[in-house]
Amino acid sequence: MLNSPAELEQLRQDILAKRKSNKARISICAGAGCLATGAAKVIDAFNAEIAKEGLSGEVEVKGTGCPGFCERGPIVVLDPEETCYLRVTPKDVPEIVAQTVKEKQVVERLVYFDAVKNVKAVHEADIPFYKNQERNIIGNNIKIDPKRIDDYLALGGYSALAKALFQMTPEQVVGEVKKSGLRGRGGGGFPTGIKWEAARKAPGETKYVIVNADEGDPGAFMDRAVLEGNPHSILEGLIIGAYAIGAHDGYVYVRQEYPLALENIGVAIMQAQEYGFLGKNILGSGFDFNIRVNRGAGAFVCGEETALLLSLEGKPGEPRARPPYPATSGLWGKPTNINNVETWANIPLIVDKGADWYGQSGTASSKGTKIFSLVGKIKNTGLVEVPMGATLRDIIYKIGDGIPNGKKFKAVQTGGPAGGCIPEEHLDLAVDFDELIKAGAIMGSGGMIVMDEDTCMVDVARYFVNFLAQESCGKCSPCREGIKQMRRILTDITEGRGKEGDIELLEELAMSTGKASLCALGRTAPNPVLSTIRHFRHEYETHIKEKRCPSFTCQGLVSYYIDPAKCTACRICDRECSSDAVVGGKNLIHYVDQTKCNACGTCFEVCPSKFGAVIRITGEDVPAPIPEEARIIVRQRRVPKKEPQPASSAP
Ligand SMILES: Cc1cc2nc3c(=O)[nH]c(=O)nc-3n(C[C@H](O)[C@H](O)[C@H](O)COP(=O)(O)O)c2cc1C
Ligand code: FES
Repeated sequence: MLNSPAELEQLRQDILAKRKSNKARISICAGAGCLATGAAKVIDAFNAEIAKEGLSGEVEVKGTGCPGFCERGPIVVLDPEETCYLRVTPKDVPEIVAQTVKEKQVVERLVYFDAVKNVKAVHEADIPFYKNQERNIIGNNIKIDPKRIDDYLALGGYSALAKALFQMTPEQVVGEVKKSGLRGRGGGGFPTGIKWEAARKAPGETKYVIVNADEGDPGAFMDRAVLEGNPHSILEGLIIGAYAIGAHDGYVYVRQEYPLALENIGVAIMQAQEYGFLGKNILGSGFDFNIRVNRGAGAFVCGEETALLLSLEGKPGEPRARPPYPATSGLWGKPTNINNVETWANIPLIVDKGADWYGQSGTASSKGTKIFSLVGKIKNTGLVEVPMGATLRDIIYKIGDGIPNGKKFKAVQTGGPAGGCIPEEHLDLAVDFDELIKAGAIMGSGGMIVMDEDTCMVDVARYFVNFLAQESCGKCSPCREGIKQMRRILTDITEGRGKEGDIELLEELAMSTGKASLCALGRTAPNPVLSTIRHFRHEYETHIKEKRCPSFTCQGLVSYYIDPAKCTACRICDRECSSDAVVGGKNLIHYVDQTKCNACGTCFEVCPSKFGAVIRITGEDVPAPIPEEARIIVRQRRVPKKEPQPASSAP
């Protein structure tokens, strides 16, 4: 138990002194992405190999948080050289230990290599994916075993808390956060310092602080990575916030589907209590603060702050009208401050390095960095942290390395399910809260889904509106009915029942749903519809007027048939069709029974390209199948039959 900042500093020096004697460190990403591709076995293999080689005293092996390059996991970094190996398997481990740990040689086949651009990078910092980022929040993940508080302390952890408690008044902490220009990373982008000030000034003895770790956006996983990889950074931010606001109890609301995040934040809280960063008289300052973890059941709407508060109180998670804002009447009616995971993780940096340092990054209206989860049709899927103001083009092409399989970029969807789609003409847009809104999208919590030329934008709108319809709590009728009606019209359009006037009706519905809904779920629900109409209106028109889906996505507008002149009766499509729609048979030209076909496209995908017999069409009628008697193929034998040999006479 630490009783003063001096004791904390002494402990840090002791940890660092012990570490200097360590010869080497092997850090293996143990984030959810890398665990899914076998990181646990890689960690076991390193532990076994290091023990076998008698190096246990000299080499430290640890599982760490996610550094972001999930596409190439499991990721291994060897320090002090910072040699970075990608897609490591247990089989590679003996070679890494023999070559890199013992001989300081690089295993070339495991380092980053881009064959197209002929770029090779041995060190983490030189890999283009990382080189173009500014990783203030997730940069430490690969250096930290999230289950060991000493790793966080070695990097200066909890020094911001000591500074806040012993060198600053609560008002000064609020002032510094205000001056930094930090805006909430949970979606709305509200200035954090102003919110803190309101909660601090709100009358009442009992106040609460809350970490919103609900993260329900499809495709988003940046909060999970911070929770799993560097939980103490969030706790430190939360304790500082509690001190600034005058709260003595805090909650971390994490969705149940994040088991590793729940485990790591639980371990971090226990360790912080043991060391004296939580509980009574923190670091001898006289300030008391406790944290509890609550598990959310996975409803998207429970991420909305007023719904989250009710859920924490054990009631159904339904948003309520504001005001009163949580800052004056939150949990159990007490002043409450809710911030997103990433917002809290920014606080120690601001307090430690100062608002002026923080303000150097970002744009005039959006300061600092932002983590995005870059997913979809992009070569480098993963988490990227860039200064606000980085362009979409840099994020997608310099960091994400562009679109795979030689396809063309079509759009990027930002801001989660209620975000908007941005087309190619806006690729040079500098990403910050305000610029995204101008383009018809939002920052949201940082989801970024890249789409290529094969994506149907009407179907994209239908997909997100369907998600929102399912997740709407149903409390207010504009959201409940408006989103449902938008889904009905969009479904009709994608299934060939679109009619004149549908686009205008969608626009009208979207506008009224957005205006009249109770919470931001309904208020932002128009975004996927309006942004796709704004930038891709022609696709809507093609679907409605020509009953055609140019990207062959909408199954209701696409048909498949087999060209009798090209079919060789190979029977592959016949075997693979799950709806029994291919009428095949040995030596019989196949055809597709249109009454059974659900246009899944499997026959098209499996038909060997050398035959190209399955034809995909949209907006056209399917040709009639050939008559039954014309279906027989007389196959030519590839190997001529040998002439029968006369029986040899016995000698
Ligand atoms: C439907 C809906 C879901 C939301 N989900 C989240 C979420 O998962 N995480 C989050 O931090 N904020 C979420 N928000 C935003 C919160 O209501 C709130 O603005 C945020 O937690 C405040 O923190 P910040 O100021 O740090 O952004 C959601 C909002 C809505 C309308
Ligand atoms: S989970 Fe390992 S790099 Fe993201």
